[in-house]
Amino acid sequence: MVRLIVHGGAWNIPEEYHPAHVQGVRRAIETVYPRLKEGQSALDAVEAAVAMLEADPTFDAGRGAFLNERGEIELDALIMDGASLDFGAVAAVQNLLHPVSLARRIMEESEHCFLVGAGAQAFARSLGIPELKPEELLTERELEFYRAVRDDPHFKPHHPFQDGPRGTVGAAALDCAGNIAAATSTGGSPRKLPGRVGDTPVVGAGGYADNRLGGVSATGWGESIMKVLLSKTVCDLFHTHTAGEAARRGISILATRVQGMGGVVGIHKNGDYAVAHNTPKMAFAYAGEDGSIVAGIESRLRI
Ligand code: GLY
Repeated sequence: MVRLIVHGGAWNIPEEYHPAHVQGVRRAIETVYPRLKEGQSALDAVEAAVAMLEADPTFDAGRGAFLNERGEIELDALIMDGASLDFGAVAAVQNLLHPVSLARRIMEESEHCFLVGAGAQAFARSLGIPELKPEELLTERELEFYRAVRDDPHFKPHHPFQDGPRGTVGAAALDCAGNIAAATSTGGSPRKLPGRVGDTPVVGAGGYADNRLGGVSATGWGESIMKVLLSKTVCDLFHTHTAGEAARRGISILATRVQGMGGVVGIHKNGDYAVAHNTPKMAFAYAGEDGSIVAGIESRLRI
């Protein structure tokens, strides 16, 4: 039994963006799931799936990320190994297409779990990871959006119902050895203060994996997701609830305890998939045992 599920953000995704979102999440499953079936590790699968979504300008991760208040891109990512509970995280890095891969190398090649900003970039440089020019991550869509909101005194970096492209990306996988992994990557929120870090790279908030429970990746309003450690909360609920119930209860805690907004995808250790959100929509895809792919924009409120 192997499993792979990805998401491309939970927000009020306008209809004109639906095809690109569905295509992006579907392509990640289509590409990575066959390799997972052939024996790829869960860690390699979540890194590969998230890297594809980072390279896709549709999403708020890697290329296509939001600009902060200074008009710069700062990226955050997390990867976690459910076998050992090792994780790697990176925050506020610039000029890298694949922060998830830097997070993986921090996990595997440093003495640390979490590096930020200039220090994280120096570590990337020491590993020979290529840096891009800022404009290589920038899309015309995000530049226009930044110009439209930068002087608006009423603009809030995170209002889940406001229009504008956004979409943290993430994945969870279960491999044929029974190992579970999760990964999440984001450009954060539009017009965020420089140095702002949301839920994504915070272990237990933006993602969590434990072979004894399952794996989860979260998306949405980071300031609220962090307060309830949403991904760890859902993983803990896997212990006593079915996959779907755990995800819905986690989102219900987010909504009622901190008036938060967001979504989760996950895999229960028994192999069942979990999808829940309280945003108007969420982009996600997963693979069935026979290789069939379910990909779409979920638009029902699931709690
Ligand atoms: N969930 C992504 C962020 O708030 O940064």
